[in-house]
Amino acid sequence: MASLLALENFKVRYGAVEAVRGINLDIRKGEVVALLGANGAGKSSTMNGIAGLEPVAEGRVLFDGQDITDLPPEEIPVSGLTLSPEGRRVFSTLTVEDNLRMGAYGVRDGAVIDAARKRVFSLFPILAKRQGQYAGTLSGGQQQMLAIGRALMCNPRLLLLDEPSLGLAPLIVEQVFGLIATLRDQGVTIFLVEQNVAGALTIADRAYLMSSGQITRHVTADEMRTSGSMVESYLGSQ
Ligand SMILES: Nc1ncnc2c1ncn2[C@@H]1O[C@H](COP(=O)(O)OP(=O)(O)OP(=O)(O)O)[C@@H](O)[C@H]1O
Ligand SMILES: [Mg+2]
Repeated sequence: MASLLALENFKVRYGAVEAVRGINLDIRKGEVVALLGANGAGKSSTMNGIAGLEPVAEGRVLFDGQDITDLPPEEIPVSGLTLSPEGRRVFSTLTVEDNLRMGAYGVRDGAVIDAARKRVFSLFPILAKRQGQYAGTLSGGQQQMLAIGRALMCNPRLLLLDEPSLGLAPLIVEQVFGLIATLRDQGVTIFLVEQNVAGALTIADRAYLMSSGQITRHVTADEMRTSGSMVESYLGSQ
């Protein structure tokens, strides 16, 4: 199957700190792929670099065959790739409705925006009920749903999720993983960073394990079915 996202010798630096040290990976259409690793491994730097929120120091990001390495961050969603960043980052002094509108930045056709909003409300009925409410007054789980909903407003073909289950109650975590499965069934390809390794392994087709800015292991689809405890002990031992 064709590759939807490819990273080639991809590096992200903060001054002298090389947070991502030349990684290569591939995500094919329709897959859910997990990126797992300890705190500080470079997972968020990878996500932010792909989405254009941090400059790529070296290497290339290919999205559907197109080089998007140096596209400005506001143009990347228009090409069909969005990130729901770590820590949710909803605009707390804006309403749910306005947060969603921000996600549709760059979409000009009002009918397309309406359809996207309908889809988000059908995925997250609670957001429809809270449309006029300030995002800062939502619960943590609802803010996470809003962050994902906002990322869906430009109908991405590839959705990057950075720790969507972080800090959420177990029941809500289950809902978030259920949602990822639903999105996959709707044809959205997903690249997922998770601390909840067990949860990520139940949903992902494959996984890359990251340590100190490098991909140290690739867990194939075959291995995924049998190697959950291997992955957890591998990550635990780093
Ligand atoms: N804005 C920044 N300025 C300087 N260093 C940074 C910055 N952001 C991250 N780093 C450093 O880059 C490295 C990778 O951080 P990153 O946030 O990508 O890791 P992570 O795998 O997402 O960790 P976590 O699981 O804690 O979210 C760490 O050493 C971190 O301290
Ligand atoms: Mg992170």
